[in-house]
Amino acid sequence: MSTDAGGREVKGHYLFEIATEVAHRVGGIYSVLKSKAPVTASEYGDRYTLIGPLNHQSAAVEVEEIEPTNPELLATMQAMKDRGVGMVYGRWLIEGAPRVLLFDTKTAYKFINEWKADLWNIASIPSPDNDGETNEAVVFGYLVAWFLGEFVCHEKKKAVIAHFHEWLAGVALPLCKKRSIDVTTIFTTHATLLGRYLCAGSVDFYNNLQHFDCDAEAGKRGIYHRYCIERAAAHSCDVFTTVSHITAYESEHLLKRKPDGVLPNGLNVTKFQAMHEFQNLHQQSKEKIHDFIRGHFYGHTDFDLENTLYFFTAGRYEFRNKGVDMFIESLARLNHRLKASGSKITVVAFIIMPAQTTSLTVEALKGQAVVKSLRDTVDIIGQGIGRRIFERSLKWHEGDALPDENDLITSQDRVLLRRRLFAMKRHSLPPIVTHNMMNDHDDPILNQIRRVQLFNHPTDRVKVIFHPEFLNSANPVLPLDYEDFVRGTHLGVFASYYEPWGYTPAECTVMGVPSITTNLSGFGCYMEELIDNSKDYGIYIVDRRNKGVDDSINELTNHMVEFTEKTRRQRINQRNRTERLSDLLDWKRMGLEYVKARQLALRRAYPDSFKPDAEAEESFFQQDVKKVSRPLSVPGSPRVAGMMTPGDFASLQEGREGLTTEDYVAWKLPEEEDPEEYSFPL
Ligand code: UDP
Ligand code: G6P
Ligand code: GLC
Repeated sequence: MSTDAGGREVKGHYLFEIATEVAHRVGGIYSVLKSKAPVTASEYGDRYTLIGPLNHQSAAVEVEEIEPTNPELLATMQAMKDRGVGMVYGRWLIEGAPRVLLFDTKTAYKFINEWKADLWNIASIPSPDNDGETNEAVVFGYLVAWFLGEFVCHEKKKAVIAHFHEWLAGVALPLCKKRSIDVTTIFTTHATLLGRYLCAGSVDFYNNLQHFDCDAEAGKRGIYHRYCIERAAAHSCDVFTTVSHITAYESEHLLKRKPDGVLPNGLNVTKFQAMHEFQNLHQQSKEKIHDFIRGHFYGHTDFDLENTLYFFTAGRYEFRNKGVDMFIESLARLNHRLKASGSKITVVAFIIMPAQTTSLTVEALKGQAVVKSLRDTVDIIGQGIGRRIFERSLKWHEGDALPDENDLITSQDRVLLRRRLFAMKRHSLPPIVTHNMMNDHDDPILNQIRRVQLFNHPTDRVKVIFHPEFLNSANPVLPLDYEDFVRGTHLGVFASYYEPWGYTPAECTVMGVPSITTNLSGFGCYMEELIDNSKDYGIYIVDRRNKGVDDSINELTNHMVEFTEKTRRQRINQRNRTERLSDLLDWKRMGLEYVKARQLALRRAYPDSFKPDAEAEESFFQQDVKKVSRPLSVPGSPRVAGMMTPGDFASLQEGREGLTTEDYVAWKLPEEEDPEEYSFPL
């Protein structure tokens, strides 16, 4: 690569990544930025800055303010501050510690009318007054365009890449284009607005993708102006990408531009020294979930925790898109099948999805409190008994009888214990929901649970718990962070109908927790393409594409039934295989698609800077690849191994004849650990 770029040097270029979830968790985009930070920061150092809107609450805990050292950046920020724009610059306190610049959009609302008029004049994008989210997007977009325009006036030598995520951060793209700001741009969409809205309704989305009248459909749903922003962003960037092939296809039809490439999402994979350390973590976290269950089901713990399996689904509350409708229906069928077969297994199914709530319920708090009191009382009684045995043993002489156990527990102890037991009497069934819901009667999840009558009855083999808030270790009822919770479960179930990628099953995989996903999720399609017999690796993929709804529900139910029939040893083996897939999802590998997208952006903006012989990179990328075959412990698969092409869609490879994704994706299955050699009991 040459360094001359028509006035700007490509070598040592700057990278700005712009998104509304920088240092502020909403959903999966936060996971993309946070988990990718270590690889991008190590590639760019302080030439990498993430830009987002300032959220005071989360910035206060996630960002450490520092002074920028780069004089051009300092001058740019000063110019904006001089016009009254508030901002925070600092280190994001995550692995990789990337720099972040957060604009306080509230300080720029004084310009909003001017900017909205401008957006209409230059791009014919309307922005009605009553849409707060769009107002935010407009103000943030104008601030970003202002920043980039100002920055390239100060920094005249080096090339600049601005990489935008999702429509909410995309307003700056048409502005950069219109104002001919000397930066090269990438837009990654993590969904399409219309896709999300259409799927949430009752539309047969995938069979009609080519036929939607997009303007009219957006208009009917009151999102025409948002759709305009998204479409303008997709058309005015230099390189357009998305997160999966399924969303690439959707973007082509709904946004009317074929993406240049697919940038699948990775994770920051933790490697433990001992290969089975993640199994120990499973056991530890499971104990914490057991504690919660003892409290939640007090008075009804008539099932054996040793034979209890924890299933869960989690994510933003999108009832149909995230497949919660299908999950609950399948749980009802699973309940019936377990009862009919006389299974000794109990399944506790958690639904973790934030809804509007007022507080934790008294019943949920009481459950934990009565069990805690019981434990405290039993501990005190136990200590007393121990003390008494000790004292009597000290006085023991040869020929004396052993201390009589009936004298060891005092009548006071008995009264105390009886009081605790009485406090645990309960005349109602254990509750479904842990919080007081704002909208209990209309809540789709609760209504479906009511419809299928999964009420935590003692005879039910499937119990349900709806936790309408993201998890947090400071929560008094279920005091676990999401990651620890996932580790303690047995199976994640994500039956999505609309899921451009789907971090939740991917996160399960790297923690060695098997999961069920669908062939309508980007992750599901990616794994299906990559692995023969993915089920053996704990990646179950339900067909929601070619089957009717009832058949898909039965398939999901069958997977769950099959899972409940596994022995503990089989579950441990399967977890080992699942965890071995982690490297497939590591940013160290996935991040290379981002590298290619940036290369293409630079190439498109500065074609003269690229000579055909990019030898150094070629050798970096050249490696062999094989499709992952069956696990070693099951008979070999006859299926012909294919090649993996995670990223390529259209032209991400533009101008690089001979180099394809297969050339650099090298992944070998690590050795399987033999559970016989474990030092812990199975
Ligand atoms: N998540 C979380 N806490 C929870 C449940 C979920 O932080 O209690 C996170 C989860 O780790 C995942 C994200 O929410 O990274 C959801 O991302 P996904 O890509 O699955 O869906 P999206 O919300 O972006 O559509
Ligand atoms: C891990 C632990 C084992 C434990 C097992 C339980 O493998 O290291 O000590 O026996 O989990 O597995 P289960 O699937 O029953 O939760
Ligand atoms: C979006 C999608 C989700 C994806 C995430 C990160 O929010 O809904 O499927 O995993 O972005 O790309």
